[in-house]
Amino acid sequence: MTGEDFAGRLEAIERDFARALERLEREADLEALRVAYLGRKGSLAQLMSSLPELPAEQRPAAGKRANECKKTLLDLLSAKQDALQAGGQTADRSRFDATLPGRRDWIGSKHPVTLVLDEICAAFTAIGFDVVTGPEIENDFYNFEALNIPREHPARDMQDTLYISDSIVLRTHTSPLQIRTMETSPPPLAVIAPGKVYRRDADLTHTPMFHQIEGLLVDEEVSMADLRGTLTYFVRTIFSKKTRVRFRPSYFPFTEPSAEVDISCVICRGTGFCGADPCRVCKQTGWVEILGCGMVDPAVFEKVDYDPERWTGFAFGLGVERVAMLKYCIDDLRLFFENDVRFLNQFQAC
Ligand code: DAH
Repeated sequence: MTGEDFAGRLEAIERDFARALERLEREADLEALRVAYLGRKGSLAQLMSSLPELPAEQRPAAGKRANECKKTLLDLLSAKQDALQAGGQTADRSRFDATLPGRRDWIGSKHPVTLVLDEICAAFTAIGFDVVTGPEIENDFYNFEALNIPREHPARDMQDTLYISDSIVLRTHTSPLQIRTMETSPPPLAVIAPGKVYRRDADLTHTPMFHQIEGLLVDEEVSMADLRGTLTYFVRTIFSKKTRVRFRPSYFPFTEPSAEVDISCVICRGTGFCGADPCRVCKQTGWVEILGCGMVDPAVFEKVDYDPERWTGFAFGLGVERVAMLKYCIDDLRLFFENDVRFLNQFQAC
């Protein structure tokens, strides 16, 4: 190699370095470029290592020229660094537009079943009921036996039970909470028990899991009139003040007498018609059923060692999805379980 070749290569290094620097956009990439050209094994160092190959008399000038090249590269590098730092700040500032509207977080809403559940609990706690909860996996004693439904009792067919074993079930109703509460608390008491219940049932109007709220009040001299007053208050708090309530005789093993409660249809306001069309919700009767209830059967009191001669009480159980459907005019039960946000977003606490 001659001194001329050497100088030519130095020029090539400067040219390539300058080009690479021009393309470079991020300060973080400067170091890699520095190492590639100015590092111990970089292009410049490699060229310098061939200096001894030059004729002796050309070496001093070539060495000087190589040092100048190194200085040029270092100057270019630091100038680029300054430019990137300054440019970065201006670029950031120009990207900030104070006039743009802020970004809004997406706010979720409570599920309609939760809304109605909360509302019902609030209506009852306002008049002195306590809220209690219990296990969804229940044993035969609490789900059936203690509620006056012995093993061979035909009333077991009223509910399609999901059995886990011979004596363990997924609770078919919230009524076991009556027993669990009376077992642990002395009378008088007033509780409501919200929760999930399970049945072997799935069609347009039934889902294998749904929600119930159980109510129980025990005191001396409780009458059917107290039950009627309490439920009328509840219905008029959740629906409108004008809603009418009617009791129909019915049968439940754990209450005697028992009744089913209907309210005047909230869709057609009890008229049976929506305009000229027959009301689909109440099937033109003007009434819709919303819960079962009755006076606690003395046989149930005996199971929990309450003296049936002294204590009296009423109980009721209602389906939360049913109340939500009537309250929000929803005609398809499946909407509650599909979790479509377009449906769910329409509900806000009221
Ligand atoms: N447990 C009943 C059911 O799931 C509902 C019920 C009816 C509860 C009457 C009660 C009651 O407490 O008194 O169908």
